[in-house]
Amino acid sequence: MTPETFVAELDSQNRSLLEKLGAKSAAGEAPGALTVRQLLKLALRNELEASELAALWMTDTPELDAKLALARQCGDEAKHYRWIEERLRGLGEDLSSFNPAAQGDSPLLKHLKGLRGTVERAAAGQFTREAIAVVRNDVFARFCEEKGDPETASLYREKIQPDEQHHHELGRKLLLKYAVTDDLQGKARAAAKRTLEVAEEVQEMARMKLGVCRAPGC
Ligand SMILES: [Fe+2]
Ligand SMILES: [Fe+2]
Repeated sequence: MTPETFVAELDSQNRSLLEKLGAKSAAGEAPGALTVRQLLKLALRNELEASELAALWMTDTPELDAKLALARQCGDEAKHYRWIEERLRGLGEDLSSFNPAAQGDSPLLKHLKGLRGTVERAAAGQFTREAIAVVRNDVFARFCEEKGDPETASLYREKIQPDEQHHHELGRKLLLKYAVTDDLQGKARAAAKRTLEVAEEVQEMARMKLGVCRAPGC
């Protein structure tokens, strides 16, 4: 199929799974003990991983436009890390001994690191993962408002979300340009699907084991 048809189909396939993911994140009552600070610390790990992955992929991505898109994303995610850190300090959190990489690579990062081609990466890491971020950040921003923290909500809505949306759109542009064969489209579809599956597994595990829901990021 044409890249346009392929991307439209992938988008609608992702949409229905994303709706489920967002609904699960927002489902039920959030535990009373769950705090914005706790979730922001989880966000730090996600932003660091997103930045690191973009840097890693940049080095062996041959297409110049994809390489530069990854460079921009790497910088944006590092910027998000700093913004969130700043907000946490504003909330009174001491991060001097906090190590966001203490638990090692997340299952999502492990999955994404295993992807090789530009099309698979654009489908999974940008088009899908960044769409997950947009959906989950929206749930998180609503949680912040419920908790009486409009400042964190507006950090997400006004500063972080436009970047994550931009990263998602970069994924779309790359797919439109490079997902030109059935083989590449098949690989992209599989990589995107697996990304959503891993994200859901991780999210549900966090809910069951740690009572964590409404978490931002990817
Ligand atoms: Fe980010
Ligand atoms: Fe992003």
